[in-house]
Amino acid sequence: MTVKNKKILIIVGGGISAYKSLDLIRLLKKNNNDVKAILTKSGKEFVTPLSITTLTKCKTFEDIFDKKMESEIDHISLSRWADLIIVMPTTANFMTKLSLGKAEDLATTVILASNKDILLVPAMNVRMWVHKATQKNLKTLQDYGYLFLGPEKGEMACGEYGDGKMSSPRQIFSFLHNYFNKKNIVKKKNLKALVTTGPTREYLDPVRYISNESSGKQGYEIAVALNRLGVKTTLITGPTNLIINTDIKTKKVISAKEMFNEVKKTLPVDIAICAAAVADFKPFKKNKNKIKKNQNGLKSINLEKNRDIVEFLGKNNKNRPSIVVGFSAETENLYKNAIIKLREKNCDLIVANDVSKKNSGINSDYNRVLIIDGNENLKMFKRSKKSFIANKIAKVVLDKLLIDDRNFN
Ligand code: C5P
Repeated sequence: MTVKNKKILIIVGGGISAYKSLDLIRLLKKNNNDVKAILTKSGKEFVTPLSITTLTKCKTFEDIFDKKMESEIDHISLSRWADLIIVMPTTANFMTKLSLGKAEDLATTVILASNKDILLVPAMNVRMWVHKATQKNLKTLQDYGYLFLGPEKGEMACGEYGDGKMSSPRQIFSFLHNYFNKKNIVKKKNLKALVTTGPTREYLDPVRYISNESSGKQGYEIAVALNRLGVKTTLITGPTNLIINTDIKTKKVISAKEMFNEVKKTLPVDIAICAAAVADFKPFKKNKNKIKKNQNGLKSINLEKNRDIVEFLGKNNKNRPSIVVGFSAETENLYKNAIIKLREKNCDLIVANDVSKKNSGINSDYNRVLIIDGNENLKMFKRSKKSFIANKIAKVVLDKLLIDDRNFN
């Protein structure tokens, strides 16, 4: 187990376990990593800049904005420099600041301006950890994409017992090993993914169409999550109101036919996740002019079936992605209907989402899902933010891909 040649920025928070950051710095330096540290104002109550500088062999950045420091290395380049940022210990108060998106000192500003993954290693009294406010912050921060390690169960400095003990430097080192290893594999393998999302529009005439209420949020968040894991991801989206991050390669389409064509053009990929609410049918013919109210002959609309994109991918002999994921939006018999779809469309995984409730599913920021694989193993996620669920789906997919690929190591 090792971590080598990485650039790690450690933010030392204000808690009794701050001294353990010195052990992690030693461990990282011993393994040829470059370490810089920001010492927060309250962290300084527990460790000194001198001990940090002695170990990092670099100036300790203190939690104040000084002109000298900004001219040496400003808060933006400090976050750009790092491969990963670690906050240890992450206190309850620091979690609150991050949940609010505060940028009131060097540590919070670097984090807010960061384009890197941020690992939070909490440590606090057990009551503080289980407090509703902290648990709410935890959810918010997970939703923002922060990574968490711990806290562990154990006896705390205050003498109480429970969840709140900071993970040890060894545990953090082991986390870093797995984290960079996975990134490395993804990079080496040059993994590519496509994600479909949003509704499609099937036009009857130049102004009228058949569509649905899909917001495209779930698929978009999945694309963001895969991208963050280093997978080169193309998002193929029907018409939505989403503000799409420019980091995500995006192809905008209107109809199911266009979506199908873009999917075909994007192949080959390793992963295909079809979260789009594709219209099953389209009008047999699109009227060239706007249909008049009193137009004779328009008593009914003739429909024809659209190609099923996920089924095309699942049954594609030539260019089948290694992992094909379908979605199954249901109002009843969630599990049973999802399994049928998984089999019929030859998917590797199916994400069944319950759309019977108003406060989750289609056109909501929340979702409730089951992720089911071909052996009918399932993982259940109760009502959570779509971004949280997206991170889970991305992780399940990537783990499955890495486990399934026997030639990986
Ligand atoms: O059969 P149903 O439409 O309920 O299946 C939903 C799944 O199939 C979703 O993954 C959706 O993106 C996909 N689908 C598709 N092409 C279609 C219809 C549905 O990819 N024409």
